[in-house]
Amino acid sequence: MEPPSLAYDPYDPDVNADPFPVYARLRAESPLYHNPERGFWALSRHADVSAALADSARYSSDHGPMLDRGAWGPQARAYLSFVAMDPPDHTRMRAIVARGFTARRVAALEPMIRDIARRHVAQAVEKGSFDFARELSARIPLDVISELMGVPPSDRAGVRRRSAPLTGRSEGGAGGPGAMTEEAVGDLLSLGGYYASIVAERRAAPRDDLVSVLVADGGLSDEEIVAFMFLLVGAGSETTTHLLNAAWYWAWRHPAQRAAAFGGAVVPWMEETLRFDTPAHGTARRLTEPTELYGTLLPAGTRMWLLIGSANRDERVFPEPGVYDLTRDTSRAISFGAGRHHCLGAPLARLEARVTLEELVRAVDPDYDVDPGGITRTAHANVQGMVRLPTRVKP
Ligand code: HEM
Repeated sequence: MEPPSLAYDPYDPDVNADPFPVYARLRAESPLYHNPERGFWALSRHADVSAALADSARYSSDHGPMLDRGAWGPQARAYLSFVAMDPPDHTRMRAIVARGFTARRVAALEPMIRDIARRHVAQAVEKGSFDFARELSARIPLDVISELMGVPPSDRAGVRRRSAPLTGRSEGGAGGPGAMTEEAVGDLLSLGGYYASIVAERRAAPRDDLVSVLVADGGLSDEEIVAFMFLLVGAGSETTTHLLNAAWYWAWRHPAQRAAAFGGAVVPWMEETLRFDTPAHGTARRLTEPTELYGTLLPAGTRMWLLIGSANRDERVFPEPGVYDLTRDTSRAISFGAGRHHCLGAPLARLEARVTLEELVRAVDPDYDVDPGGITRTAHANVQGMVRLPTRVKP
């Protein structure tokens, strides 16, 4: 029998439910894949994705990392800040905000993060049965970012609701082509107004938070700071949530790996999950000059889709890539991207995930349960993962 012809559409619910079989076929059969309906060319092998991420002169970010350019268009910079910029603007802005994310500053956040994680874990464990995604993993990163930005606890639910269009957090296909509904735009405008009020407050009375650091620098306009706040909540909350969900789920599916994780291998648990089921599946670029790939000459302006989720499963780099194995070498995984746009929040994400997993290991019996029938996933192309993950734990 003929194998079915290769069709890859990241918005197809079947692909979204389990993208790894189609990624394997892309790597083997069509390492440069064209989807004319969606208007992109995809690269899926580790070497190709890494090389493209490293070559930001040829692979421009000026339309942002979202696959669906139509959903953002000229608004990209207002919501996506410097992840949607090339040098020199990218260099200038990243250099300023990086001062708020030095290794020393991030490490100093550990007590605050542990406090947040411990509180949420204790509340969840008390319930026994709960939705790991909604009631635990979604709350911790958002609380941490809110602490960083100086958003008071009473305003956090509103921030969470209004920021959903940035990440496709809502279920049922948000984030797909044309996803910027009027309601979503209204939510983002209202969130922008809220962030602008925080910036104005910090200008009048600085505090000890990230926004005050950015205001004090003097090199950024109010609009630029607000755009960066959008980027932080969009890039920094959902991704870390998906990492925690995936760690919980895959350890449940693999009891021997779970025993290792609960026996002390928390960092390998986190790193192998980042490789195996990475939150950021892809990022988009635009070619700045004609480029030949696999014998095809692509013109300048071509929309490229770089499949990080597939690169992390490339058998050329990771032997038996479909095996979840906490002992493997994950150092070549590119879960946080590479090159100029390498994730600014990677040390923070790792700290949050490690601390939360440590608190879970401390508080619950390794013999926990997951209800696989109750799991639902996002249908967003860039950031993928579970949005519902019912679980049952014993202290
Ligand atoms: C960029 C992944 C958590 C802030 C990126 C990129 C990836 C990524 C792949 C590169 C995008 C591109 O090249 O187009 C992840 C993953 C995370 C995570 C998998 C969690 C497991 C965070 C956190 C923050 C953050 C916690 C901050 C609070 C950023 C920023 C950028 C970025 C600001 C833009 C960097 C630039 O354009 O120079 N992230 N991220 N991320 N991430 Fe993360």
